[in-house]
Amino acid sequence: MSATDRLNTIKGHLSGNYPQGLLAGEVAIITGSGQGIGKSCAEVFAREGAFVVVTDIDASKSDQVAADINAAGGKAISIPGDVLDASFPERLVEETVKAFGKINHIVNNAGFTYDGMLHKISDKQWDVMLAVHNTAPFRIVRAAAKYLRKKDGQNKSIVNVSSTSGLHGNVGQANYATAKAGIVGLTKTIAKEWGMFGVRCNTVAFGWVDTRLTRAKEAGATIEVDGQKVALGIPTGNKSGARPNPFADIPLGRAGTADEVAGSVLTLCTPLTSYVTGHTLEVTGGRGI
Ligand SMILES: NC(=O)c1ccc[n+]([C@@H]2O[C@H](COP(=O)([O-])OP(=O)(O)OC[C@H]3O[C@@H](n4cnc5c(N)ncnc54)[C@H](O)[C@@H]3O)[C@@H](O)[C@H]2O)c1
Repeated sequence: MSATDRLNTIKGHLSGNYPQGLLAGEVAIITGSGQGIGKSCAEVFAREGAFVVVTDIDASKSDQVAADINAAGGKAISIPGDVLDASFPERLVEETVKAFGKINHIVNNAGFTYDGMLHKISDKQWDVMLAVHNTAPFRIVRAAAKYLRKKDGQNKSIVNVSSTSGLHGNVGQANYATAKAGIVGLTKTIAKEWGMFGVRCNTVAFGWVDTRLTRAKEAGATIEVDGQKVALGIPTGNKSGARPNPFADIPLGRAGTADEVAGSVLTLCTPLTSYVTGHTLEVTGGRGI
């Protein structure tokens, strides 16, 4: 896309004369899009005209999100799978290209927490966090290299999802924090290696977003890892799940919603940020400033 085309796309969008949206005709893979932030990303990308590949380890949720997008007039397919399966990234990329002919955007969002105090974290607990937040994004990006490393003038962007735990550390999350810091290094390296092909790569580091990862652990949400249930959520220390003044350190005074933080991911994929790469965008309601 030339600079003039890009400007016209933005102008048209803002004036309402460009109903197809900011990502019209572009193809986006969004991992972990069966629920939570990934689902919101899939929906907003589709509303902006992208052809969306919904993918999640939970096949029924993945299929449902894609079906709902199509029912609402968007265009999506579901390619469910486990990003921890070494063969899945290649299949995800190839099936995407088979369906839509190209790839413009990859949002490496799939992830979860596997908390414990450092002295009690097992090797398994450690390894799986690095595998899901570092190895899987690396493999997906590597599998897409032959479609992205081309001087074709397309709007191309990778967004890797990190966390304030990765930027600042967090009690009980040595494994998760290490992995979420690692993804920042991967992002910056991709930005440096693939910038010459017009591929931008940025990180979003979320603070507290209201999903099952941040709801009370006592609510009982789990994810299965190698047949073992891993509890998700933040322990409140009481059965009711109530937390005293939980947003005291957030200037906006509340958690973010999945829909509003998906907007930050979208922004980093649109031509509005065509000169932004290697950046880490903190989406935190001001927490930690
Ligand atoms: N919620 C927050 O406050 C918060 C804060 C910082 C970072 N994050 C990050 O945002 C991302 C999305 O989290 P969320 O809060 O929407 O959680 P979520 O649990 O609502 O959604 C995550 C999705 O990823 C999928 N997933 C997990 N492991 C997978 C695997 N191996 N293969 C395929 N799919 C898999 C899950 O099935 C789920 O649908 C994660 O990377 C998380 O670490 C979230």
